[in-house]
Amino acid sequence: MTTPKTHFSIALPSPSTPPILLQTPTHAPNPNEALIKVSWTCSTPLDLHRADGNLAVSAYPFLLGTAFAGTIVTLWLRPTTSPNDQPLKEGDKVFGFVSDGNSREAGFQEYITVPVHKISKLPTAKVPYGLKEAVTVPTNLVTAFHALTADLGLRLPWPKSAGFRGGGSKVLIWGGASSVGMYTMQVLKHWGYSGVIAIASGKHHEELRRLGARVCFDYRNPGVLGEIVRYLDKEGSQGGGGGGPRIPYLVDCIGSREGTVKPLSKIAERGSKVAVMLPVINVHAAEGKRPVFAADEKNVQGVVWQEGVEVRGVRAFNYEENDFYRDKLQPEIIPVLLSQGVIQPNKTRVVEGATLLERAQNALQLLRNQAPSGERLIWRVSEDDE
Ligand SMILES: NC(=O)c1ccc[n+]([C@@H]2O[C@H](COP(=O)([O-])OP(=O)(O)OC[C@H]3O[C@@H](n4cnc5c(N)ncnc54)[C@H](OP(=O)(O)O)[C@@H]3O)[C@@H](O)[C@H]2O)c1
Repeated sequence: MTTPKTHFSIALPSPSTPPILLQTPTHAPNPNEALIKVSWTCSTPLDLHRADGNLAVSAYPFLLGTAFAGTIVTLWLRPTTSPNDQPLKEGDKVFGFVSDGNSREAGFQEYITVPVHKISKLPTAKVPYGLKEAVTVPTNLVTAFHALTADLGLRLPWPKSAGFRGGGSKVLIWGGASSVGMYTMQVLKHWGYSGVIAIASGKHHEELRRLGARVCFDYRNPGVLGEIVRYLDKEGSQGGGGGGPRIPYLVDCIGSREGTVKPLSKIAERGSKVAVMLPVINVHAAEGKRPVFAADEKNVQGVVWQEGVEVRGVRAFNYEENDFYRDKLQPEIIPVLLSQGVIQPNKTRVVEGATLLERAQNALQLLRNQAPSGERLIWRVSEDDE
């Protein structure tokens, strides 16, 4: 495969300006990096937060995209690297979670250059799907691991022994049908956390029970908070002697001030830990309307947490601070979980468009309209392969 010196990328050119197509350099790999031809990517709410809300964009042009799926063109492994640790080779079908804004690796590009610790190899012989589906996995499966371990302190030992059971502690997942929610629930199920309560619209409940929810509630029902509280009253405390919170762990997979953070503040009790997906959104982006984000997840206007509730804002890009996850999560844990069928990719909705730019813009519009429901928006980057 010949590699062009430059390729097309999707970038935000300046604050609050729609994305454009840019010709950007193709970077030769450094040691322990791979040059990858990208076939598929997916659009996530973060793209909208960046495009319409300038969220945490420090420099322009800002290259978008936190996930890729494609084929390794060139690989440069350090000679000291153990072959067992890095079973990658040129021609492999791979996918991964990468940092947008990083011009080497951002996912909305025809070619990217990625450190090998951010690459998962698709276990092609063992799974009945391809790159198109796998691209939905890395960003939010990494997010799920990071939120459950770094923010909630739950144990997910790797390798998982046959006897390990997380136990029956209640873990409330608000936004169970979001991409983050569905991966979080699959992880909890695999590690034997059996007390999962999922909050999502009713049409998803059957699927969420399959993914491990013990009980589901419909957030579109105006009486949902009362239903949850009645359920908790019936179930009682988790503290053995009656002293602990009724739900020790809560994951806000949405981060909406009115839709999720406020209701959760009415359920969490002293001793509860709450992991909130950042940013907290005060006003959602819409056609002609810029989003408004809360500056700090602990001080959201109009939200009062009970004393003794620990609120943590989730920052998935920080997952590499855990050395073990930096080295193992994408290269080893994710491919093994896929090959074992423990993790099913999200359902996909293919975003069409005549050009790369059109597909990126159409996906942003669908996100503005809050169209995705129990699915991930994916779109083609290169035309000529899988
Ligand atoms: N800070 C981080 O590290 C980090 C990492 C990943 C994601 N995030 C953020 O987390 C949020 C979710 O990301 P995502 O990719 O998982 O989104 P997504 O899959 O696109 O979310 C769409 C889903 O949200 C659900 N939803 C919307 N409002 C809800 C509410 N009030 N209660 C319950 N469910 C609700 C909808 O459920 P129904 O279909 O049931 O209506 C829909 O299925 C985004 O803001 C994203 O930026 C942050």
